[in-house]
Amino acid sequence: MNDINGKTILIVDDEPDIREVLTISLEDMGYRTVEAENAATAFDLFQKEHPQIVVTDIKMPGGDGIGLLRKIKHENTETEVIMITGHGDMNLAIRSLKYEATDFITKPINVDALEIALRRARDKIAMRRQLQDYTRSLEQIVREKTELQDHLASLGLMIGSVSHGMKGLLTGLDGGLYLVSSGLKKKDFKRVEEGCQAAQETVQRIRKMVMDILYYAKERKLKRAPVRIADFAEDLVRVIQPRIDGCGIRLACHFEGITGTMHVDADYLQAALVNILENAVDACLKDHRMPTHQVDFSITDPGDDIVFCIADDGIGMDRDICNRIFSLFFSTKGRRGTGLGLFIANRVIGQHGGKITVASKPGEGSLFRVRIPKHQVEIHPESAMPTVENNQNAVKESGPSSSA
Ligand SMILES: Nc1ncnc2c1ncn2[C@@H]1O[C@H](COP(=O)(O)OP(=O)(O)OP(=O)(O)O)[C@@H](O)[C@H]1O
Ligand SMILES: [Mg+2]
Repeated sequence: MNDINGKTILIVDDEPDIREVLTISLEDMGYRTVEAENAATAFDLFQKEHPQIVVTDIKMPGGDGIGLLRKIKHENTETEVIMITGHGDMNLAIRSLKYEATDFITKPINVDALEIALRRARDKIAMRRQLQDYTRSLEQIVREKTELQDHLASLGLMIGSVSHGMKGLLTGLDGGLYLVSSGLKKKDFKRVEEGCQAAQETVQRIRKMVMDILYYAKERKLKRAPVRIADFAEDLVRVIQPRIDGCGIRLACHFEGITGTMHVDADYLQAALVNILENAVDACLKDHRMPTHQVDFSITDPGDDIVFCIADDGIGMDRDICNRIFSLFFSTKGRRGTGLGLFIANRVIGQHGGKITVASKPGEGSLFRVRIPKHQVEIHPESAMPTVENNQNAVKESGPSSSA
C-alpha cells in the first residue's frame, strides 16, 4: 500500500508499552499507524506500506535504529525518520542527524515534543512536494518557450525566404508586363504572347507559393473523397504539361491498365505530386550534359496501395542534399525556390498514411516513389518518415533508361 496522503506512520520500538503509547497518541492526532518490534520486521513493513514518516527507537536488540534509518534512507531518501532516544544516547542522536534523521525526541515521550517533530517532518514533506511542482512547471515553461522560439525562428526564416522569392517573382511579372505593353505599342503580337505567357507562369508560381505558405501556417484536416485514379492522373498531367512544353523535356506517362478509385484529398495530393514533377523538370533544365531529357511518370496498383513513380535524368543529388530535401526551407534554387515543396509534400503524404522513397545520384537523375494507401488507414508516425536510398542502382532500375 502506498501512503499517498502522508497519513501512515511506522512505529518501531522493542518495548510494547512505548509502541502502545505512541499508537494511541498518533491515532489521536489523526494518523494511521503500523507497528514493528525490531529493525528487520520494520524494514519489511516499510517496503510493504511505504509510509512517509517513521518513528523509531534508536537502540533495539538485534539491529539498531541507526542501521534501520540508513536502510530506509537508502531505499527512499524522501522518508522522514524521527528517532526516539534514551538518556545518555546523545552521541547516537547526533550521529542519526548525520544520516539525515528529521529530528529526535527523548524518552519518556512528551506528546508536545512528538507533535513538534511531526510538524517539522510534515513541513519538509510539503516543501519537497512544492519544490517538485515548481520544478515540473518550470520544465514545462522552458519546454513551451523553446517551442515558441523554434516556431518564431522558422516563421522568421519563412518570411525572409518568402520575401526573397516574392521579389524574384515580381521581377518576373514586371518583365512579362513590360513585354505585353511594349508589344502592344509596337503591335508585335508575338511579343505580347511571350509577355502573357511569362506573366501567367509567374502568377502560377505565386499561387503555388501562397498555397504552400497557407498549408504550412495551418495544417488542415484532409478532405477525403473517392477519386478515379485514371482521372486523377490525367488532371495531374494537364497541370504539369504547360511547365514541360518547349523545354526539350519529354514526359513519358505509364498509366496503362490503371482502373479503380482511391480515397484521398485529391487537391493536396495533386499539389504534392506536382511539386515532385516540377522538381524533376527543374533538375532536367539544370542538366546541360544532354540536349534533351525525359521524365517518366508511372502509376502502379499493387493491391491496397497505389504507387506513383517520378523518375528524371536530370542533375541528380549527392548524399548530403538527399538527406536535406525534406527539411523546411531547404532549397538549392536560390530565389526560384522556397524549400517548402517537399516539406509539405512529405507532410501531405504522411497524413494520407503513405510514404516517399527517394533514390538519387549526381549525374544519374532521381527517382521519387510515393506509396499511398487507397483507403483510409491508421497512421504510425515512424512509418511515415521519408526514406532516402541514395542508391545508383535504384535510380537505374526504375528510372528513365529502363522504363522509357
Ligand atoms: N528531382 C530532383 N533532382 C534534383 N534535385 C532535387 C529533385 N527534387 C528535389 N531536389 C532538391 O531538393 C530541394 C528541395 O525541393 P523542394 O521542392 O522542397 O523545394 P524547391 O523546389 O527548391 O522550392 P519550392 O518550395 O518552390 O518547391 C530542391 O531545391 C533541390 O535541390
Ligand atoms: Mg519544389
